[in-house]
Amino acid sequence: MSDFLSDNDFDGFRQYIYSESGIHFSKTNRSILESRLKERLRNNDSRTPGDYLNLLKSNKEETRLFLDAITTNLTRFFRNQAHYDTLIQHVIPQLIKYKTAKGDKRIRSWNAGCSSGEEPYTNAMVFKEHLPPGWEIEITASDLSLKSLMTAKEGVYPETRMSSVPEFYQKKYFEPVEQGFKVKDSLKELITFDYHNLKFETGLKDLDIVFCRNVLIYFDEAAQKNVIDHFWKAMSGYAYLFIGHSESLFGMETDFQFVKTDWACIYGKSTGDAAL
Ligand SMILES: C[S@@+](CC[C@H](N)C(=O)[O-])C[C@H]1O[C@@H](n2cnc3c(N)ncnc32)[C@H](O)[C@@H]1O
Repeated sequence: MSDFLSDNDFDGFRQYIYSESGIHFSKTNRSILESRLKERLRNNDSRTPGDYLNLLKSNKEETRLFLDAITTNLTRFFRNQAHYDTLIQHVIPQLIKYKTAKGDKRIRSWNAGCSSGEEPYTNAMVFKEHLPPGWEIEITASDLSLKSLMTAKEGVYPETRMSSVPEFYQKKYFEPVEQGFKVKDSLKELITFDYHNLKFETGLKDLDIVFCRNVLIYFDEAAQKNVIDHFWKAMSGYAYLFIGHSESLFGMETDFQFVKTDWACIYGKSTGDAAL
């Protein structure tokens, strides 16, 4: 029990966070909530956490800023190489085969919970290098953190964040700038960055690939199922889903198939006869 945040207020915030985002804020993260709350209270007229909770309930803009403040945005370029090996060696070849037979040479992909952009930019580089000439790439990348989205849209990263980008990619897709490295426009133009709260359905349709890695871990089972059902609806009849390597759909009632490749385990949707 702390002097700043009563148990009652803490429960009130946890319920509000859950109802607005699906994020299950555990009791062990109480000190994180307290420090972020103190920061937000300094930025507006609320005197106590209780005042601030009331303000949140009537103010959507402040709710966005608050949710931004409590999210964890850790990410990096080429995060989990085994996923990229799976994308390159299995998913892209399978999609090329399936889509070519249908006369469709376009890949539509979504990075749900894209944080500051390293993941969708990595995907864009991989698609550029591994799709045959003439294929179109359309990437949507979304998050509820406005700060992270701003960094993503700007596409400028300090040198310290570039260590996981192989030299070949760095030279081809980035240019050096005073603050570090800037993503070239040829890559940026493949991606649409957008604010989206995964609690709600997206208007996206016919997606071939969804990356939602290291996001579900913050949700409870019911909220995870809700998000997974949204993905199902947004994906085409033959598509792949990547979730974080410590996340799983095990035990969830879903039609997604478990796809075990030589590199990593992912999920897939196939509503016809085509094998994933
Ligand atoms: C740990 S980062 C993962 C980033 C990236 N996918 C990766 O694996 O490197 C989790 C991201 O999910 C976002 N997030 C959490 N809850 C969300 C929600 N309800 N809607 C949209 N984004 C959410 C956070 O803002 C954060 O940027």
